[in-house]
Amino acid sequence: MSILEVNNLKVSFDTVMGKVEAVKGVDLTVNAGEVLGVVGESGSGKSVTSLAIMGLINNSTGSIESGEILFQGKNLLELKEKEMCKIRGNKVSMIFQEPMTSLNPVVTVYKQLREVYKIHRPDMKNKCREELITLLAQLNIPDSNAVLNKYPFELSGGLKQRIMIAMAMICKPSVIIADEPTTALDVTTQAEIIELLKKIKDESNSGIMLITHDLGVIAEMAQRVIVMYFGKVVEECSVKAFFDNARHPYSEDLLAAMPENFDGRFQSIEGNVPNLYEEVKGCAYYSRCKKSIEECQKNEPPMVELYNGHKVRCFKCEAIEKGDNK
Ligand SMILES: Nc1ncnc2c1ncn2[C@@H]1O[C@H](COP(=O)(O)OP(=O)(O)O)[C@@H](O)[C@H]1O
Ligand SMILES: [Mg+2]
Repeated sequence: MSILEVNNLKVSFDTVMGKVEAVKGVDLTVNAGEVLGVVGESGSGKSVTSLAIMGLINNSTGSIESGEILFQGKNLLELKEKEMCKIRGNKVSMIFQEPMTSLNPVVTVYKQLREVYKIHRPDMKNKCREELITLLAQLNIPDSNAVLNKYPFELSGGLKQRIMIAMAMICKPSVIIADEPTTALDVTTQAEIIELLKKIKDESNSGIMLITHDLGVIAEMAQRVIVMYFGKVVEECSVKAFFDNARHPYSEDLLAAMPENFDGRFQSIEGNVPNLYEEVKGCAYYSRCKKSIEECQKNEPPMVELYNGHKVRCFKCEAIEKGDNK
């Protein structure tokens, strides 16, 4: 059952050089108890999509141009900020990429975690210490009582990220968005955090949207995958279909760039993502795509469902060309 459904989300920003559309019509769903893996190069709109879901775009420069974000059937975009506050950090939580910048260095861990209780569980605000000690211990934080008294600057990067995860978990959210939760950490700590996210996945019924550039993590954690490029979803499928049978040339290129296929040369996809100021008429991957034909430059391919929820946005997808999906 889907708990989060994003339909045709478009987000733009006013910049000194004019208006840019960072998210250009994204559709996605997150089901209860499932991990949706989100992949795509830097700049493809993954974080902006997450921030929109969290209701954090409403500042002076960013605006939601269209779409709906349905959480348990309710459109979050129609909620007043006061109502959204009740959902954010309570029913829908986010783990950010940079724990160092998300925690206040001069306020103790305990006081920062207690803030969440003040907002969402006020009856517990003076009784939360014991619960926090247990929660931190569940998140494999040793000596959790002592950690609560520390300031973030006294903690390692891995511990700070665990505190951020604790903060996101206090209210047992139905949806957790983890935006590159391990990028800022060293390899050993990355593995520990991934283990922790797996434990959370196994023990809760939350739907998790996991953004990562690490396809190994996707293979381990996700049930379904969406591939984003230039503000759009270009492929959506099960994790098995992604690794065995990805259909979009961009997905194929991402998979070919995986370190497992390392052949002595660093592989990255040639060329660059178009910049947001460029007008792109056809497929945004056209200039980098090995399979492109003339039509790709002229018209944008529609998203087509092949089978069992495997969807792809490409004219050159063989199954679509052959009409197998019909
Ligand atoms: N506040 C902003 N103002 C202008 N452009 C922005 C802003 N935030 C993000 N963008 C642009 O939106 C695009 C998508 O960004 P983002 O969602 O952060 O990408 P990703 O998380 O996939 O790396 C990028 O081109 C980025 O430069
Ligand atoms: Mg990002």
